[in-house]
Amino acid sequence: MTDSVKLQELAKKYGTPLFVYDGALMLERYYDLFRFISTDALRVHYALKANYNPALLALLRDAGAGIDAVSPGEVELALALGFDKDRIIYTANNMTDAEFDRVMRTGVTVNIGSLSRLKKCAVSHPGSRICLRFNPDVCDGDNAMTMTGGDLTKFGILLDDADEAKRIADSGDLHIIGLHEHTGSGLQHVESVLKSMDNLMAIATPERFGELEFLDFGGGFKVPYRDDEARVDYVEMGRQITDKFNAFCETYGKKLLMRFEPGKYLSAECGTLIVEVNTIKHNRSRVIAGCNSGFPQLIRPVLYGAYHKITNLSNPDGVPGVYDICGNICETGDRFAEQREIPEIREYDLLAIGNAGAYCYSMGSVYNLRPMPAEAVLKDDEVISFTPAETDAELVKRVLRK
Ligand code: LLP
Repeated sequence: MTDSVKLQELAKKYGTPLFVYDGALMLERYYDLFRFISTDALRVHYALKANYNPALLALLRDAGAGIDAVSPGEVELALALGFDKDRIIYTANNMTDAEFDRVMRTGVTVNIGSLSRLKKCAVSHPGSRICLRFNPDVCDGDNAMTMTGGDLTKFGILLDDADEAKRIADSGDLHIIGLHEHTGSGLQHVESVLKSMDNLMAIATPERFGELEFLDFGGGFKVPYRDDEARVDYVEMGRQITDKFNAFCETYGKKLLMRFEPGKYLSAECGTLIVEVNTIKHNRSRVIAGCNSGFPQLIRPVLYGAYHKITNLSNPDGVPGVYDICGNICETGDRFAEQREIPEIREYDLLAIGNAGAYCYSMGSVYNLRPMPAEAVLKDDEVISFTPAETDAELVKRVLRK
């Protein structure tokens, strides 16, 4: 997290609520992966859904990252920011024919995750180069809603249907240039990553899929959200991944590219949401600290029961108390933290909510007609981009389509 003095200075300058992103940290996380997985075969496609701030994306673009896009809008944004079409993969699910056609026309590689879409593609775009997404049949993730393998998920073609997929692809002379899987977000066990790789590699035989250029193993690299949560030993995991992939290429008879699509790993820790407390209320059994933001601006605690570390920037040495840290939205469940021990919170104190760089702003909404907060992007302690919040008047104008 950006240091406390800097956060307070930015809050004073720009007001709150305010998202602050440390671009240098995001880049550090990007380069980390090349240290862990030390092969020139590695390509990192950032999962843009985690955080689409253009200044952050520009940093990653200049560092050589690719993009994992999940909607035509995300593809369009990546292209507009100058990401080369060859560095973008489009992995939508339940896409319409029009969406599919539109993205195929851009020349971006489309990752197809159902036999139904594959059949349509064989008829509408014969001869094209595509990627196939398989369900890795491994269940892992930081909660049930973000696990994408196994029977309960809507994603990917079943491994058992690999031959059927091959038959359909051949019927339209489709060139399968990549195979893909994504196991889940916040993978808890290193073994799951390795098992999913094994499962995908097991169907990637030269007899079945002889034209492969890459295997894509999705995202899911976990970062700690709690102080007492251990960081995964990525050096060891990277070594195992590299060995496994090299052995596969040997058997396959060709050096393929190895892709990963991290979102959280690159952006979660670089972000902080600063909020200001405006009301302390002593209910019978609880002390409530009410602040000037709410769950539409950072929904993970409410949606997933996710833990985000909260620091009292204004009173770090205060006597610890136990608080429900609530927002300004008209719902009882509007809490960033429940029964959280934290140095005494006083009215007008600034609180910093950590790990707010992934799936926070990007999952935001203007529920209750509160505009999303401003965003400041830092690099080496300098603000390189500032995006002001919409004003209430601008938001109302947008609602009225005026
Ligand atoms: N690739 C695909 C195909 C994905 O569906 C995802 C995430 C990723 C890569 C990146 O996963 P990551 O490295 O960020 O874990 N809103 C949830 C996370 C949803 C992830 C959706 N797909 C959260 O806040 O925890």
